Amino acid sequence: MKCLSPSILSADFANLGEQIRVIDEAGADYVHIDVMDGCFVPNISFAFPVLKAIRPLTERIFDVHLMIEEPIRYIDEFAAAGADIITVHAEACKHLDRTIEVIKEHDILAGVALNPATPLEAVEYILPKVDMVLLMTVNPGFGGQSYISYCTEKVRKLKEMIERQGLKTDIQVDGGINLDNVEMVMDAGANIIVAGSAVFKGDVAQNVQDFLTLMK
Ligand code: DX5
Ligand code: ZN
Repeated sequence: MKCLSPSILSADFANLGEQIRVIDEAGADYVHIDVMDGCFVPNISFAFPVLKAIRPLTERIFDVHLMIEEPIRYIDEFAAAGADIITVHAEACKHLDRTIEVIKEHDILAGVALNPATPLEAVEYILPKVDMVLLMTVNPGFGGQSYISYCTEKVRKLKEMIERQGLKTDIQVDGGINLDNVEMVMDAGANIIVAGSAVFKGDVAQNVQDFLTLMK
């Protein structure tokens, strides 16, 4: 299954509800929600009140990317705020397996994320327990950065690792994805595409449609 997950980090926050309506109507499958704590990443974004405020506006999947230290402390609250997928960074969890277990207790999907330079071995053993691996293709913290080219090879290797284990784990790519490189990352094996600035800059509905056309 191929899915587009626009990152609302790049949305117009003064019109967030309206922008979510536009991506929903244009056919985006997920809503990518970037939560940052100013500790794991050098930026602070938003959390529970924003999730709760936008949850009634759409039935689309809330794909929550936690860029926070020790996310295990807040899994219950994110689940209660309406997350359908919770992704945690392997680098931010002292006990990654336990953190994934806590996510799954809520009957929602669990993802694990890796920064660009983190080796794939970090997910080798947890792979059968997660629904998705998010490969960061920029250093997390900000929208609008350029795609790091060595990540394409990493997507390919992850796809091989998943197939070797006989799994169907989703591969999400996040950071610097645009209409010029989306086919390349999909060819490498990614099937869930996050795009922030490439969706929210300019004509949002048109951008979503252009992505969906290339992703067919
Ligand atoms: C970066 C976030 C991304 C970001 C992507 O830390 O995890 O989701 O919003 O933005 P673009 O697509 O502009 O690189
Ligand atoms: Zn993200």
